[in-house]
Amino acid sequence: MKIKPIVLKLGGSVITDKNKVATANKDAIKRLANEIAQSKVTYLILVHGGGSFGHPIAKKYNLSEGYTNPSQVIGFSETHLAMTKLNSFVIDALIKHNVNAVVVQPSSCVVTKAGRIKRMELKPINRMLKMGLVPVLYGDAVLDSENGFSILSGDQLVSSLAIHFDASKIIIGGDVDGICTADPKSSPSANLISYVTLEELKAKKYEIEGSKATDVTGGMLGKIHELIPAIAHNIPALLVNASKPWRVYEALSGEEVIGTIIECG
Ligand code: IPE
Repeated sequence: MKIKPIVLKLGGSVITDKNKVATANKDAIKRLANEIAQSKVTYLILVHGGGSFGHPIAKKYNLSEGYTNPSQVIGFSETHLAMTKLNSFVIDALIKHNVNAVVVQPSSCVVTKAGRIKRMELKPINRMLKMGLVPVLYGDAVLDSENGFSILSGDQLVSSLAIHFDASKIIIGGDVDGICTADPKSSPSANLISYVTLEELKAKKYEIEGSKATDVTGGMLGKIHELIPAIAHNIPALLVNASKPWRVYEALSGEEVIGTIIECG
């Protein structure tokens, strides 16, 4: 039987308070763990972002520029440690809700080349899925064959995992409803676009809200850009607002949900 998992990303802006350094949004994490449990999805790969745990430290040590100075090396350790702390809240909440979550640390199984995933050990993830486990990965500091190290975003991981495991869909749980015709904050007539093809997205200039808080991996635009290779592989991506209760549940369950579907077309 072919495993076609769903790949779900929980954005750092949802599971942390992006304005307070290293502060988890434990209520959101618990609520989302419950939504994941309630959806009873059989095959799931979960990826989460860094929010106020990963981004501020990575920025402080300029890690996304790669290795230029020995004083950055401790920053690699600190960034990874911060991510393991955030990850432990996520794993803990999932297990308390009887989701068979298990951490897969990207710093130990991924090597990038100039910031792009070059090698990734995927066999354990494959076996985990077959065993009924839910692999949980996250944006992380990783070793880079050209630049010494790099910051690997959760979104690049999502795209790569979705392609490798031929995912049935990608769900991106961010802190906005999806892609709009204009900025909803300044333009009252702005409408949410519920469906868009990759071609339409490339051709038209939609309003893509980005987070104003510290983000070393490119904001919302960078996130959507990372998804393009997977969408081009015929894997639909659904953007939903994970800050709003039940949106992630509805997306996982295949129910109608407020959000934006991006398809190859
Ligand atoms: C960032 O991952 C990871 C680090 C900064 C270590 P993401 O780019 O996926 O995180 P969010 O979702 O934007 O917070």
